[in-house]
Amino acid sequence: MTLELKDYIATIPDYPEKGVIFRDISPLMADGTAYRQATNEIVQYAREKNVEMIVGPEARGFIVGCPVAYQLGIGFAPARKKGKLPNETISATYNLEYGTAELQLQKLAIKPGQRVLVTDDLLATGGTISATIEMVERLGGIVVGTAFIIELTELKGREKIKDYDMLSLIKY
Ligand code: PRP
Ligand code: ADE
Repeated sequence: MTLELKDYIATIPDYPEKGVIFRDISPLMADGTAYRQATNEIVQYAREKNVEMIVGPEARGFIVGCPVAYQLGIGFAPARKKGKLPNETISATYNLEYGTAELQLQKLAIKPGQRVLVTDDLLATGGTISATIEMVERLGGIVVGTAFIIELTELKGREKIKDYDMLSLIKY
């Protein structure tokens, strides 16, 4: 039986600030069958793209990317918020639907030529995913795809990453 994944997304108006309609994946994560279905759909996509490494931005990108990497038996590299990663890192700054931020990736996270899938829970303006893609490419990785549980179509993040293949499981 295939679940309607949208049934497992909570909608919270005016969070974290007035005017934002927050789409929360918590109910999906709380349901083992829904979480596994979402993971398996991304695993299937990653297999088609012969992905060798997964990169996901903190924090919700870890929730999506780690089980996919585990299922495929490949590695996962976290793109973390500034100041959280030891050793040599590279950085990228970006704008959010609410605020600005800086992400970092360890220089040793990606091997040149590696086929990388970038994952996150949600695509809004595309700032987070663009910053993550930029860092992967600066380290010589090849971004062969991007995958999200949710796409907020009105914010047009897809246009910002139009040069990349993209999978989104739920659209608003
Ligand atoms: C949220 C979400 C995405 C990003 C999407 O993360 O998990 O990473 O915003 O927005 P964008 O497409 O406009 O960049 P947030 O920065 O709130 O951090 P969190 O995952 O730590 O909650
Ligand atoms: N990240 C950026 N915009 C968001 C939204 N509307 N809901 C959940 N996470 C988000």
